[in-house]
Amino acid sequence: MSACASQQGETFEIDVLVIGSGIAGLHYCLELLKYNPKTRITLITKTVLGECNSRYAQGGIASVLGPDDSIASHIQDTLNAGDDLCYRPSVESIIQQGPHAIEQLKHYAIPFTQTHAEQYALGHEGGHSHRRIVHAGDQTGLSITQSLLAKIYKHPQIQCLENSTAVNLITQYHPHRIDHQGEVLGAYILDSTCNKIHAYLSRCVVLATGGAGKTYRYTSNSMVATGDGVAMAYRAGARVGNMEFYQFHPTLLHHHEVTNFLISEAVRGEGGVLLNADTHTRFMKQYAPEQQDLATRDIVARAIFNEIEQSDNQFVYLDITHQSQAFLKKRFPQIYATLASIDINMAEDLIPVVPAAHYQCGGVLTNTQGQTDLERLYAIGEVAFTGLHGANRLASNSLLEAVVMASNAARASQTNLATPWQLKHSIPRWNSPTQVNNRRAGQINTHWRGLRGEMMSYAGIVRTEAGLNDLLQLIQQRKKIIEDYYWTHAITRDFIELRNIVLNAELIVSAALVRRESRGGHYRDDYPYKSPTAQESITRLNAPNWMDIK
Ligand code: SIN
Repeated sequence: MSACASQQGETFEIDVLVIGSGIAGLHYCLELLKYNPKTRITLITKTVLGECNSRYAQGGIASVLGPDDSIASHIQDTLNAGDDLCYRPSVESIIQQGPHAIEQLKHYAIPFTQTHAEQYALGHEGGHSHRRIVHAGDQTGLSITQSLLAKIYKHPQIQCLENSTAVNLITQYHPHRIDHQGEVLGAYILDSTCNKIHAYLSRCVVLATGGAGKTYRYTSNSMVATGDGVAMAYRAGARVGNMEFYQFHPTLLHHHEVTNFLISEAVRGEGGVLLNADTHTRFMKQYAPEQQDLATRDIVARAIFNEIEQSDNQFVYLDITHQSQAFLKKRFPQIYATLASIDINMAEDLIPVVPAAHYQCGGVLTNTQGQTDLERLYAIGEVAFTGLHGANRLASNSLLEAVVMASNAARASQTNLATPWQLKHSIPRWNSPTQVNNRRAGQINTHWRGLRGEMMSYAGIVRTEAGLNDLLQLIQQRKKIIEDYYWTHAITRDFIELRNIVLNAELIVSAALVRRESRGGHYRDDYPYKSPTAQESITRLNAPNWMDIK
Protein backbone atom coordinates (compact mmCIF):
# COMPACT_ATOMS: atom_id res chain seq x y z
CA MET A 1 0.00 0.00 0.00
CA SER A 2 1.38 3.43 -0.87
CA ALA A 3 1.91 5.87 1.99
CA CYS A 4 -0.84 8.06 0.58
CA ALA A 5 -3.41 5.26 0.49
CA SER A 6 -3.58 4.89 4.27
CA GLN A 7 -6.02 6.94 6.37
CA GLN A 8 -3.34 8.29 8.70
CA GLY A 9 0.37 8.91 8.34
CA GLU A 10 2.61 5.84 8.35
CA THR A 11 5.76 5.02 10.31
CA PHE A 12 8.87 4.12 8.29
CA GLU A 13 12.22 2.81 9.53
CA ILE A 14 15.31 3.76 7.57
CA ASP A 15 19.02 4.11 8.33
CA VAL A 16 19.63 7.80 7.70
CA LEU A 17 17.32 10.75 7.09
CA VAL A 18 18.80 13.71 5.22
CA ILE A 19 16.67 16.87 5.21
CA GLY A 20 17.55 19.21 2.34
CA SER A 21 18.89 18.73 -1.17
CA GLY A 22 21.57 21.41 -1.44
CA ILE A 23 25.26 20.68 -1.90
CA ALA A 24 25.80 19.73 1.77
CA GLY A 25 22.97 17.16 1.81
CA LEU A 26 23.84 15.65 -1.57
CA HIS A 27 27.55 15.39 -0.86
CA TYR A 28 26.86 13.86 2.56
CA CYS A 29 24.79 11.06 0.96
CA LEU A 30 27.49 10.18 -1.57
CA GLU A 31 30.28 10.31 0.99
CA LEU A 32 28.37 8.15 3.48
CA LEU A 33 27.79 5.49 0.86
CA LYS A 34 31.53 5.31 0.19
CA TYR A 35 32.03 4.14 3.78
CA ASN A 36 28.91 2.11 4.07
CA PRO A 37 27.45 1.10 0.68
CA LYS A 38 24.48 -0.74 2.16
CA THR A 39 23.08 2.20 4.12
CA ARG A 40 19.48 3.11 3.26
CA ILE A 41 19.23 6.87 2.99
CA THR A 42 16.06 8.87 2.61
CA LEU A 43 16.66 12.35 1.24
CA ILE A 44 13.74 14.72 1.52
CA THR A 45 13.21 18.04 -0.15
CA LYS A 46 10.36 20.53 0.13
CA THR A 47 9.70 21.10 -3.57
CA VAL A 48 11.83 19.46 -6.25
CA LEU A 49 15.35 18.09 -6.01
CA GLY A 50 17.92 20.76 -6.56
CA GLU A 51 15.75 23.71 -5.46
CA CYS A 52 18.01 25.05 -2.74
CA ASN A 53 20.22 27.99 -1.88
CA SER A 54 23.33 26.27 -3.22
CA ARG A 55 22.06 26.35 -6.78
CA TYR A 56 22.03 30.17 -6.74
CA ALA A 57 25.62 30.48 -5.50
CA GLN A 58 27.31 32.22 -8.37
CA GLY A 59 30.81 32.98 -7.09
CA GLY A 60 32.45 29.64 -6.30
CA ILE A 61 34.44 27.73 -3.70
CA ALA A 62 37.34 29.38 -1.93
CA SER A 63 40.38 27.13 -1.65
CA VAL A 64 44.13 27.55 -1.65
CA LEU A 65 45.37 26.41 -5.06
CA GLY A 66 47.33 29.34 -6.50
CA PRO A 67 51.15 29.23 -6.46
CA ASP A 68 51.56 32.35 -4.30
CA ASP A 69 48.69 31.57 -1.95
CA SER A 70 48.87 29.83 1.42
CA ILE A 71 46.57 28.21 3.97
CA ALA A 72 47.80 30.75 6.53
CA SER A 73 46.67 33.59 4.28
CA HIS A 74 43.20 32.07 3.70
CA ILE A 75 42.85 31.56 7.45
CA GLN A 76 43.84 35.17 8.14
CA ASP A 77 41.41 36.55 5.55
CA THR A 78 38.61 34.49 7.10
CA LEU A 79 39.44 35.70 10.61
CA ASN A 80 39.60 39.32 9.41
CA ALA A 81 36.21 39.09 7.68
CA GLY A 82 34.72 37.43 10.79
CA ASP A 83 35.66 40.52 12.84
CA ASP A 84 37.25 38.64 15.79
CA LEU A 85 34.34 36.30 16.28
CA CYS A 86 35.45 33.22 14.32
CA TYR A 87 36.22 30.04 16.22
CA ARG A 88 39.83 29.54 15.23
CA PRO A 89 39.99 25.71 15.48
CA SER A 90 37.04 25.44 13.06
CA VAL A 91 38.56 27.98 10.70
CA GLU A 92 41.86 26.09 10.62
CA SER A 93 40.27 22.69 10.24
CA ILE A 94 37.88 23.65 7.42
CA ILE A 95 40.36 25.72 5.45
CA GLN A 96 43.08 23.08 5.68
CA GLN A 97 40.64 20.60 4.15
CA GLY A 98 39.88 22.96 1.21
CA PRO A 99 42.28 21.53 -1.39
CA HIS A 100 41.14 17.99 -0.53
CA ALA A 101 37.50 19.05 -0.95
CA ILE A 102 38.27 20.29 -4.46
CA GLU A 103 39.98 16.93 -5.19
CA GLN A 104 36.81 15.12 -4.04
CA LEU A 105 34.66 17.21 -6.33
CA LYS A 106 36.82 16.21 -9.31
CA HIS A 107 35.11 12.81 -9.20
CA TYR A 108 31.80 14.41 -10.08
CA ALA A 109 33.03 15.88 -13.37
CA ILE A 110 31.96 19.41 -12.47
CA PRO A 111 32.68 21.78 -15.36
CA PHE A 112 34.92 24.18 -13.41
CA THR A 113 36.34 26.97 -15.53
CA GLN A 114 39.96 26.31 -16.49
CA THR A 115 42.80 28.33 -17.92
CA HIS A 116 44.56 27.44 -21.16
CA ALA A 117 47.09 25.48 -19.11
CA GLU A 118 44.26 23.25 -17.80
CA GLN A 119 44.56 24.68 -14.35
CA TYR A 120 41.55 26.01 -12.48
CA ALA A 121 40.88 29.65 -13.35
CA LEU A 122 40.85 31.33 -9.94
CA GLY A 123 38.43 34.19 -9.31
CA HIS A 124 38.76 37.07 -6.85
CA GLU A 125 36.19 38.30 -4.31
CA GLY A 126 35.92 40.79 -1.45
CA GLY A 127 38.15 40.25 1.58
CA HIS A 128 40.45 37.73 -0.17
CA SER A 129 44.09 38.71 -0.43
CA HIS A 130 44.63 36.23 -3.30
CA ARG A 131 42.77 34.83 -6.27
CA ARG A 132 41.42 31.57 -4.88
CA ILE A 133 37.82 31.12 -6.05
CA VAL A 134 37.30 27.92 -8.04
CA HIS A 135 34.23 28.53 -10.20
CA ALA A 136 32.10 27.26 -13.05
CA GLY A 137 31.41 30.49 -14.96
CA ASP A 138 28.91 32.37 -12.82
CA GLN A 139 26.82 29.31 -11.98
CA THR A 140 29.09 27.36 -9.68
CA GLY A 141 26.38 26.25 -7.24
CA LEU A 142 24.11 25.07 -10.03
CA SER A 143 26.90 23.12 -11.76
CA ILE A 144 27.90 21.34 -8.56
CA THR A 145 24.29 20.61 -7.58
CA GLN A 146 23.51 19.13 -11.00
CA SER A 147 26.65 16.99 -11.08
CA LEU A 148 25.93 15.58 -7.60
CA LEU A 149 22.28 15.00 -8.46
CA ALA A 150 23.26 13.00 -11.55
CA LYS A 151 24.92 10.50 -9.15
CA ILE A 152 22.14 10.66 -6.56
CA TYR A 153 19.37 9.86 -9.08
CA LYS A 154 21.12 6.67 -10.10
CA HIS A 155 21.93 5.43 -6.63
CA PRO A 156 19.76 2.49 -5.55
CA GLN A 157 20.40 3.14 -1.82
CA ILE A 158 19.03 6.70 -1.89
CA GLN A 159 15.30 7.23 -1.76
CA CYS A 160 14.55 10.81 -2.84
CA LEU A 161 11.24 12.24 -1.67
CA GLU A 162 10.13 15.52 -3.25
CA ASN A 163 7.25 17.66 -1.92
CA SER A 164 8.19 16.49 1.56
CA THR A 165 8.59 18.98 4.41
CA ALA A 166 10.04 18.18 7.80
CA VAL A 167 7.62 19.28 10.51
CA ASN A 168 9.60 18.41 13.61
CA LEU A 169 12.29 16.20 15.01
CA ILE A 170 11.30 13.18 17.08
CA THR A 171 13.37 13.00 20.25
CA GLN A 172 13.68 11.10 23.48
CA TYR A 173 15.42 12.07 26.68
CA HIS A 174 17.62 10.00 29.02
CA PRO A 175 17.71 11.82 32.39
CA HIS A 176 20.47 9.60 33.82
CA ARG A 177 23.02 10.55 31.13
CA ILE A 178 25.42 13.30 32.09
CA ASP A 179 25.39 16.33 29.79
CA HIS A 180 22.62 14.79 27.77
CA GLN A 181 20.27 17.13 25.94
CA GLY A 182 18.21 14.56 24.07
CA GLU A 183 18.48 11.91 21.39
CA VAL A 184 16.98 12.31 17.94
CA LEU A 185 15.06 9.34 16.59
CA GLY A 186 13.85 10.75 13.29
CA ALA A 187 11.37 13.33 12.10
CA TYR A 188 7.75 13.88 11.19
CA ILE A 189 7.47 14.62 7.50
CA LEU A 190 4.54 16.19 5.65
CA ASP A 191 3.93 14.55 2.28
CA SER A 192 2.25 17.36 0.33
CA THR A 193 1.09 15.05 -2.43
CA CYS A 194 -1.49 13.53 -0.07
CA ASN A 195 -1.34 15.87 2.94
CA LYS A 196 -0.28 13.18 5.41
CA ILE A 197 2.35 13.42 8.09
CA HIS A 198 4.53 10.33 8.35
CA ALA A 199 7.06 9.42 11.03
CA TYR A 200 10.51 8.51 9.67
CA LEU A 201 12.66 6.77 12.26
CA SER A 202 16.37 6.72 11.53
CA ARG A 203 19.69 6.09 13.21
CA CYS A 204 20.75 9.62 12.50
CA VAL A 205 19.22 12.75 11.07
CA VAL A 206 21.17 15.26 9.02
CA LEU A 207 19.89 18.83 8.81
CA ALA A 208 21.06 20.30 5.52
CA THR A 209 18.22 22.77 5.27
CA GLY A 210 20.16 25.93 4.32
CA GLY A 211 19.47 29.42 5.57
CA ALA A 212 16.54 31.70 6.28
CA GLY A 213 16.76 34.52 3.73
CA LYS A 214 12.97 34.50 3.46
CA THR A 215 12.84 36.09 6.89
CA TYR A 216 13.62 39.32 5.01
CA ARG A 217 11.65 41.04 2.29
CA TYR A 218 14.65 41.45 -0.03
CA THR A 219 16.83 38.39 -0.42
CA SER A 220 19.00 36.56 -2.91
CA ASN A 221 17.75 33.24 -1.49
CA SER A 222 15.63 30.48 -2.90
CA MET A 223 11.97 30.48 -1.89
CA VAL A 224 12.66 27.39 0.25
CA ALA A 225 15.11 29.20 2.57
CA THR A 226 12.79 29.46 5.57
CA GLY A 227 15.08 28.51 8.46
CA ASP A 228 13.47 25.10 8.99
CA GLY A 229 16.58 23.42 10.41
CA VAL A 230 17.28 26.10 13.01
CA ALA A 231 13.63 26.13 14.07
CA MET A 232 13.38 22.34 14.44
CA ALA A 233 16.70 21.95 16.24
CA TYR A 234 15.92 24.82 18.62
CA ARG A 235 12.47 23.44 19.44
CA ALA A 236 14.09 20.09 20.18
CA GLY A 237 16.55 21.63 22.64
CA ALA A 238 19.75 22.15 20.62
CA ARG A 239 21.74 25.33 21.08
CA VAL A 240 21.73 27.90 18.29
CA GLY A 241 24.14 30.80 18.10
CA ASN A 242 25.17 34.06 16.42
CA MET A 243 21.75 34.44 14.85
CA GLU A 244 22.08 38.24 14.74
CA PHE A 245 24.73 37.97 12.03
CA TYR A 246 22.59 37.78 8.92
CA GLN A 247 24.85 38.68 6.05
CA PHE A 248 23.58 41.15 3.45
CA HIS A 249 25.06 40.75 0.00
CA PRO A 250 25.88 44.19 -1.40
CA THR A 251 24.70 43.68 -4.96
CA LEU A 252 21.28 42.24 -5.71
CA LEU A 253 19.87 43.48 -9.03
CA HIS A 254 17.33 46.27 -8.46
CA HIS A 255 14.59 45.70 -11.00
CA HIS A 256 10.80 45.48 -10.85
CA GLU A 257 10.53 42.35 -13.02
CA VAL A 258 13.69 40.37 -12.33
CA THR A 259 13.68 39.98 -8.57
CA ASN A 260 15.98 38.01 -6.21
CA PHE A 261 18.75 38.05 -8.82
CA LEU A 262 22.30 38.32 -7.53
CA ILE A 263 25.09 40.16 -9.31
CA SER A 264 28.07 38.16 -8.15
CA GLU A 265 30.81 39.70 -6.07
CA ALA A 266 33.10 38.26 -8.72
CA VAL A 267 32.00 41.18 -10.92
CA ARG A 268 33.82 43.48 -8.50
CA GLY A 269 36.59 40.89 -8.44
CA GLU A 270 37.05 41.58 -12.16
CA GLY A 271 37.30 45.32 -11.55
CA GLY A 272 33.63 46.39 -11.20
CA VAL A 273 33.15 49.53 -9.09
CA LEU A 274 30.20 51.02 -7.21
CA LEU A 275 28.86 54.46 -8.11
CA ASN A 276 26.47 56.79 -6.30
CA ALA A 277 23.27 56.85 -8.38
CA ASP A 278 22.87 60.66 -8.21
CA THR A 279 26.42 61.73 -8.92
CA HIS A 280 27.83 58.68 -10.74
CA THR A 281 30.95 58.96 -8.57
CA ARG A 282 32.80 56.20 -6.73
CA PHE A 283 32.29 56.14 -2.98
CA MET A 284 33.97 53.06 -1.50
CA LYS A 285 37.26 54.90 -0.86
CA GLN A 286 35.54 56.88 1.91
CA TYR A 287 34.42 53.70 3.67
CA ALA A 288 37.38 51.36 3.05
CA PRO A 289 40.42 53.33 1.87
CA GLU A 290 42.50 50.23 1.21
CA GLN A 291 40.23 47.52 -0.13
CA GLN A 292 37.62 49.92 -1.52
CA ASP A 293 35.11 48.01 -3.70
CA LEU A 294 36.59 44.70 -2.61
CA ALA A 295 36.17 45.29 1.10
CA THR A 296 34.27 42.62 3.03
CA ARG A 297 30.51 42.40 2.53
CA ASP A 298 29.49 43.98 5.83
CA ILE A 299 31.46 47.12 5.00
CA VAL A 300 30.28 47.36 1.39
CA ALA A 301 26.62 46.67 2.24
CA ARG A 302 26.64 49.37 4.94
CA ALA A 303 28.32 51.84 2.62
CA ILE A 304 25.63 51.26 -0.02
CA PHE A 305 22.90 51.60 2.61
CA ASN A 306 24.38 54.93 3.64
CA GLU A 307 24.67 56.20 0.05
CA ILE A 308 21.06 55.23 -0.67
CA GLU A 309 19.79 56.92 2.51
CA GLN A 310 21.43 60.16 1.47
CA SER A 311 20.33 60.10 -2.16
CA ASP A 312 17.12 60.42 -4.13
CA ASN A 313 17.46 56.90 -5.47
CA GLN A 314 16.67 53.45 -4.09
CA PHE A 315 19.87 51.89 -5.44
CA VAL A 316 23.49 52.47 -6.40
CA TYR A 317 25.17 51.49 -9.66
CA LEU A 318 27.71 48.79 -10.38
CA ASP A 319 29.98 49.69 -13.28
CA ILE A 320 31.98 47.05 -15.16
CA THR A 321 31.97 48.84 -18.52
CA HIS A 322 35.78 48.88 -18.69
CA GLN A 323 35.65 45.16 -19.57
CA SER A 324 34.90 44.02 -23.10
CA GLN A 325 31.64 42.43 -24.15
CA ALA A 326 33.50 39.25 -25.16
CA PHE A 327 35.11 38.93 -21.73
CA LEU A 328 31.89 39.57 -19.80
CA LYS A 329 29.87 37.12 -21.91
CA LYS A 330 32.44 34.41 -21.25
CA ARG A 331 33.12 35.10 -17.57
CA PHE A 332 29.52 35.89 -16.53
CA PRO A 333 27.26 34.14 -19.06
CA GLN A 334 24.19 33.95 -16.81
CA ILE A 335 24.46 37.50 -15.49
CA TYR A 336 25.13 38.83 -18.98
CA ALA A 337 22.10 37.06 -20.45
CA THR A 338 19.76 37.99 -17.58
CA LEU A 339 20.74 41.65 -17.80
CA ALA A 340 20.42 41.58 -21.61
CA SER A 341 16.85 40.28 -21.18
CA ILE A 342 15.96 43.56 -19.43
CA ASP A 343 17.92 45.71 -21.89
CA ILE A 344 21.01 46.19 -19.76
CA ASN A 345 24.23 45.58 -21.67
CA MET A 346 26.76 45.17 -18.89
CA ALA A 347 29.62 46.13 -21.22
CA GLU A 348 28.00 49.52 -21.82
CA ASP A 349 25.38 50.21 -19.15
CA LEU A 350 25.45 50.73 -15.41
CA ILE A 351 23.73 48.01 -13.32
CA PRO A 352 21.33 49.18 -10.54
CA VAL A 353 21.99 47.19 -7.34
CA VAL A 354 20.86 47.05 -3.68
CA PRO A 355 21.97 45.01 -0.66
CA ALA A 356 19.78 42.02 0.27
CA ALA A 357 19.68 39.26 2.90
CA HIS A 358 22.00 36.54 1.68
CA TYR A 359 23.55 34.26 4.27
CA GLN A 360 23.00 33.15 7.86
CA CYS A 361 26.40 33.25 9.60
CA GLY A 362 25.09 31.65 12.81
CA GLY A 363 22.81 28.63 13.15
CA VAL A 364 22.69 25.30 14.94
CA LEU A 365 25.83 24.87 17.02
CA THR A 366 28.07 22.03 15.82
CA ASN A 367 31.58 20.74 16.27
CA THR A 368 33.88 20.14 13.30
CA GLN A 369 32.21 16.78 12.68
CA GLY A 370 28.79 18.42 12.25
CA GLN A 371 27.53 16.98 15.56
CA THR A 372 24.96 19.08 17.40
CA ASP A 373 23.99 19.02 21.09
CA LEU A 374 21.47 16.28 20.41
CA GLU A 375 22.67 12.72 19.96
CA ARG A 376 22.29 11.45 16.38
CA LEU A 377 21.55 14.93 15.03
CA TYR A 378 23.96 16.56 12.55
CA ALA A 379 23.78 19.99 10.95
CA ILE A 380 25.83 20.81 7.85
CA GLY A 381 26.05 23.73 5.44
CA GLU A 382 24.35 27.07 6.01
CA VAL A 383 22.06 25.76 8.78
CA ALA A 384 25.10 25.04 10.97
CA PHE A 385 27.13 27.34 13.17
CA THR A 386 30.62 25.86 13.09
CA GLY A 387 32.37 29.12 13.97
CA LEU A 388 33.95 29.47 10.51
CA HIS A 389 32.16 32.70 9.62
CA GLY A 390 32.22 34.66 12.88
CA ALA A 391 30.43 37.98 12.50
CA ASN A 392 30.66 38.07 8.72
CA ARG A 393 31.32 35.30 6.21
CA LEU A 394 34.18 35.63 3.78
CA ALA A 395 32.89 35.30 0.20
CA SER A 396 32.83 31.75 -1.21
CA ASN A 397 33.71 30.13 2.12
CA SER A 398 30.17 28.74 2.30
CA LEU A 399 30.39 26.13 -0.45
CA LEU A 400 33.77 25.16 0.99
CA GLU A 401 32.19 24.64 4.40
CA ALA A 402 29.29 22.68 2.89
CA VAL A 403 31.58 20.21 1.12
CA VAL A 404 34.06 19.80 3.99
CA MET A 405 31.44 19.45 6.70
CA ALA A 406 29.39 16.99 4.65
CA SER A 407 32.46 14.74 4.41
CA ASN A 408 33.29 15.11 8.09
CA ALA A 409 29.72 14.35 9.16
CA ALA A 410 29.56 11.32 6.87
CA ARG A 411 32.65 9.94 8.60
CA ALA A 412 31.36 10.72 12.09
CA SER A 413 27.89 9.29 11.56
CA GLN A 414 29.32 5.78 11.05
CA THR A 415 29.17 5.42 14.81
CA ASN A 416 25.43 6.06 14.87
CA LEU A 417 24.81 3.51 12.15
CA ALA A 418 26.58 0.91 14.24
CA THR A 419 24.59 1.61 17.43
CA PRO A 420 20.81 1.21 17.26
CA TRP A 421 18.76 3.24 19.70
CA GLN A 422 16.52 1.74 22.35
CA LEU A 423 13.05 3.20 22.07
CA LYS A 424 11.71 4.22 25.48
CA HIS A 425 8.15 4.64 24.21
CA SER A 426 6.40 3.78 21.01
CA ILE A 427 6.37 6.66 18.57
CA PRO A 428 2.90 8.17 18.30
CA ARG A 429 1.46 8.78 14.87
CA TRP A 430 1.00 12.44 14.11
CA ASN A 431 -2.51 13.23 15.11
CA SER A 432 -3.16 16.36 13.13
CA PRO A 433 -6.36 18.37 13.24
CA THR A 434 -8.25 18.16 9.96
CA GLN A 435 -10.07 21.48 10.22
CA VAL A 436 -9.62 23.64 7.12
CA ASN A 437 -10.64 27.29 7.02
CA ASN A 438 -9.56 28.92 3.80
CA ARG A 439 -10.48 32.46 4.77
CA ARG A 440 -8.55 32.23 8.06
CA ALA A 441 -5.64 30.59 6.24
CA GLY A 442 -5.55 33.53 3.85
CA GLN A 443 -5.54 35.96 6.79
CA ILE A 444 -2.75 34.12 8.57
CA ASN A 445 -0.73 34.06 5.39
CA THR A 446 -0.58 37.86 5.35
CA HIS A 447 1.79 37.61 8.30
CA TRP A 448 4.51 36.57 5.84
CA ARG A 449 4.49 39.91 4.10
CA GLY A 450 4.21 41.98 7.28
CA LEU A 451 6.97 40.14 9.08
CA ARG A 452 9.43 40.21 6.21
CA GLY A 453 8.95 43.94 5.69
CA GLU A 454 9.42 44.66 9.40
CA MET A 455 12.57 42.53 9.53
CA MET A 456 14.00 44.54 6.65
CA SER A 457 13.24 47.86 8.35
CA TYR A 458 14.18 47.06 11.96
CA ALA A 459 16.59 44.14 11.84
CA GLY A 460 18.31 44.87 8.54
CA ILE A 461 21.64 46.55 7.87
CA VAL A 462 21.31 49.24 10.57
CA ARG A 463 19.57 48.47 13.89
CA THR A 464 18.57 50.34 17.04
CA GLU A 465 17.41 49.24 20.50
CA ALA A 466 14.01 50.93 20.12
CA GLY A 467 13.40 49.43 16.68
CA LEU A 468 14.42 45.95 17.80
CA ASN A 469 12.22 46.17 20.90
CA ASP A 470 9.20 47.22 18.82
CA LEU A 471 9.94 44.46 16.35
CA LEU A 472 10.25 41.79 19.05
CA GLN A 473 6.81 42.70 20.35
CA LEU A 474 5.30 42.50 16.87
CA ILE A 475 7.00 39.15 16.25
CA GLN A 476 5.71 37.71 19.53
CA GLN A 477 2.15 38.78 18.70
CA ARG A 478 2.41 37.24 15.25
CA LYS A 479 3.99 34.10 16.70
CA LYS A 480 1.07 33.55 19.06
CA ILE A 481 -1.50 33.91 16.28
CA ILE A 482 0.46 31.58 14.00
CA GLU A 483 0.98 28.95 16.74
CA ASP A 484 -2.72 29.03 17.71
CA TYR A 485 -3.71 28.41 14.12
CA TYR A 486 -0.99 25.78 13.64
CA TRP A 487 -2.22 23.59 16.50
CA THR A 488 -5.89 23.74 15.55
CA HIS A 489 -5.92 23.35 11.77
CA ALA A 490 -4.70 20.99 9.09
CA ILE A 491 -1.18 22.16 8.30
CA THR A 492 0.36 22.78 4.92
CA ARG A 493 3.91 23.53 3.86
CA ASP A 494 3.17 27.27 3.97
CA PHE A 495 2.28 27.13 7.64
CA ILE A 496 5.20 24.99 8.61
CA GLU A 497 7.42 27.55 6.90
CA LEU A 498 5.65 30.54 8.39
CA ARG A 499 5.93 29.03 11.87
CA ASN A 500 9.65 28.47 11.29
CA ILE A 501 10.24 31.93 9.84
CA VAL A 502 8.62 33.66 12.79
CA LEU A 503 10.79 31.66 15.21
CA ASN A 504 13.93 32.51 13.22
CA ALA A 505 12.92 36.18 13.30
CA GLU A 506 12.51 36.00 17.07
CA LEU A 507 15.94 34.41 17.45
CA ILE A 508 17.60 36.98 15.17
CA VAL A 509 16.00 39.95 16.92
CA SER A 510 16.56 38.64 20.45
CA ALA A 511 20.24 38.09 19.69
CA ALA A 512 20.52 41.52 18.04
CA LEU A 513 19.07 43.13 21.17
CA VAL A 514 21.56 41.42 23.44
CA ARG A 515 24.54 42.46 21.30
CA ARG A 516 25.06 46.06 22.34
CA GLU A 517 27.94 46.73 19.99
CA SER A 518 28.63 46.83 16.25
CA ARG A 519 30.60 43.99 14.76
CA GLY A 520 30.68 42.40 11.32
CA GLY A 521 27.20 42.15 9.83
CA HIS A 522 25.51 43.45 12.99
CA TYR A 523 25.48 47.25 13.12
CA ARG A 524 23.79 49.12 15.97
CA ASP A 525 23.30 52.83 15.38
CA ASP A 526 23.13 53.32 19.16
CA TYR A 527 26.31 51.27 19.83
CA PRO A 528 28.45 52.00 16.77
CA TYR A 529 31.69 50.56 18.17
CA LYS A 530 33.02 47.09 18.72
CA SER A 531 33.17 45.99 22.33
CA PRO A 532 36.69 44.95 23.44
CA THR A 533 35.51 41.44 24.27
CA ALA A 534 34.32 39.11 21.56
CA GLN A 535 31.49 36.81 22.60
CA GLU A 536 29.34 34.45 20.62
CA SER A 537 25.63 34.66 21.42
CA ILE A 538 24.36 31.21 22.22
CA THR A 539 20.70 30.45 22.96
CA ARG A 540 18.87 27.36 24.08
CA LEU A 541 15.19 26.85 24.80
CA ASN A 542 14.73 26.40 28.55
CA ALA A 543 12.25 23.59 28.32
CA PRO A 544 12.28 21.84 24.97
CA ASN A 545 9.09 20.14 23.92
CA TRP A 546 10.52 16.66 23.42
CA MET A 547 7.94 15.27 21.07
CA ASP A 548 6.44 18.61 20.07
CA ILE A 549 2.98 17.09 19.92
CA LYS A 550 0.05 18.44 21.86
C1 SIN B 1 28.58 35.82 -5.08
O1 SIN B 1 28.81 35.28 -6.14
O2 SIN B 1 28.74 37.01 -4.88
C2 SIN B 1 28.04 34.97 -3.95
C3 SIN B 1 29.06 34.05 -3.46
C4 SIN B 1 28.97 33.88 -1.97
O3 SIN B 1 27.97 34.25 -1.38
O4 SIN B 1 29.96 33.42 -1.39
